[in-house]
Amino acid sequence: MTHHLGKANWNDEERINGLIRSYSTRYDNLFWKTFIPLVGPEPRKAIADFGCGPGLFLVDAAEKFSAQVLIGLDESQEMLDHAEQFIQERTSVESYELKTINFDVTRIPLQPDSVDLAFSGYMLHEVSDPQDFVKQIGRIVRRGGVYVVYDFVSGNEAVFVQKMIERDMSEEQARKRYPHMCKHSIDDIISLMRDAGLKEVKGRAVNDIRAVVVGHMK
Ligand SMILES: C[S@@+](CC[C@H](N)C(=O)[O-])C[C@H]1O[C@@H](n2cnc3c(N)ncnc32)[C@H](O)[C@@H]1O
Repeated sequence: MTHHLGKANWNDEERINGLIRSYSTRYDNLFWKTFIPLVGPEPRKAIADFGCGPGLFLVDAAEKFSAQVLIGLDESQEMLDHAEQFIQERTSVESYELKTINFDVTRIPLQPDSVDLAFSGYMLHEVSDPQDFVKQIGRIVRRGGVYVVYDFVSGNEAVFVQKMIERDMSEEQARKRYPHMCKHSIDDIISLMRDAGLKEVKGRAVNDIRAVVVGHMK
């Protein structure tokens, strides 16, 4: 069942496999070249991915930031099963926690000030109350830590539609989905972060339809 036009059925094995196959395109060099300078290169002991899907960002981030603790949260148990396998096979991190949670109905069960790098990739547009979601995560980020949102952003419907057509979506579907998948502008995400108490919030376009926004907890 599709919950809304910005959200697919993430329990479906075929869709999950599509997400795994497309990971290196979705997290391409353009993404990392935008992300790393905004976050900085220093080690981040505890990394949490809110809406981690199959956990491939956690795998890459574990290596890039020498993580010792990985936390993945997602409402799809099928996604978390893949995440567990990837973390075991592709990282040497022994301390990891994967939790099933629906952010729309349950408060996030992590300790305040416990995470050094918090991340949400391609999912902020899917939660029902983005401001509350970002505020909850802000409380979990430790002083000196960062929260990073990576998502589709509004502003260029023509390019979004073209990219979706290239991924075999019809033009009609792509136009219907645009306001849901590109729900926020970069400035909207910056405001959500500032209102959650994050400081030195900066947003950068990755390309015409994707952006990274980083906020620091001081
Ligand atoms: C487009 S996928 C992205 C997954 C991963 N971040 C990536 O980029 O590969 C969105 C993910 O967010 C999760 N998600 C969406 N809304 C959620 C909610 N309300 N509570 C928990 N997880 C949610 C979905 O289950 C799915 O795994």
